[in-house]
Amino acid sequence: MPARPAHTAAEFVPETRELDALADAAHGCKGCDLYLDATQVVFGGGSSSADMMLVGEQPGDQEDKTGRPFVGPAGKLLDKALVQAGIDRERVYVTNAVKHFKFTLPERGKRRIHKTPGRTEVVACRPWLLAELDAVRPEVLVLMGATAAQSLLGSKFRLTAHRGEALELPAIELDVAPDVAVTVHPSSVLRGPPEDREKAFDALVSDLRFADGLRARR
Ligand code: URA
Ligand code: SF4
Repeated sequence: MPARPAHTAAEFVPETRELDALADAAHGCKGCDLYLDATQVVFGGGSSSADMMLVGEQPGDQEDKTGRPFVGPAGKLLDKALVQAGIDRERVYVTNAVKHFKFTLPERGKRRIHKTPGRTEVVACRPWLLAELDAVRPEVLVLMGATAAQSLLGSKFRLTAHRGEALELPAIELDVAPDVAVTVHPSSVLRGPPEDREKAFDALVSDLRFADGLRARR
């Protein structure tokens, strides 16, 4: 009986820690089934010398179409939050826990609806995230939302209990040891009730400031 294909990106990740070469290689990834329906892979973006790395969940509709992370509504909100927190975008590398858009198509011609990636896809895609972490070697790592947090901190990690805390990565195969902070995903600010938006946005800004403070402390 043929073995079930392993769900992992590992065999597609080259040895190099050049971000451009990693991004190129990611176009050929078949580590899970998400490459089948998505338009293209959406690798991280930003400076390789960034001192802060931000991790979201997965590309959305606009990211899928343009091939660039955080260019849609959540990305615009994140940009605004970074400005308010006094964090220069030039200093930041942004990426996602999962690199292909997962969606459902309710009816032909209708808008594609975001679907939260499952544990299988998150685990499958993690080798790309680890490679980016190894390439960028940020001082501070900000995990935005449960998917990003659980990818690197374990499936039992509860985000809300740890906002505003200085965390560490569990022992991983890499010799990078950034300070880690968690916050909500920017799209959760957009999805929440309109009357709560301002508060949720302020809390995101405050978490980003906290994360930036960790860097300043080093
Ligand atoms: N949400 C994410 O998590 N990542 C993106 O790139 C866009 C929206
Ligand atoms: Fe590969 Fe990640 Fe895309 Fe799955 S989601 S095919 S593991 S890049």
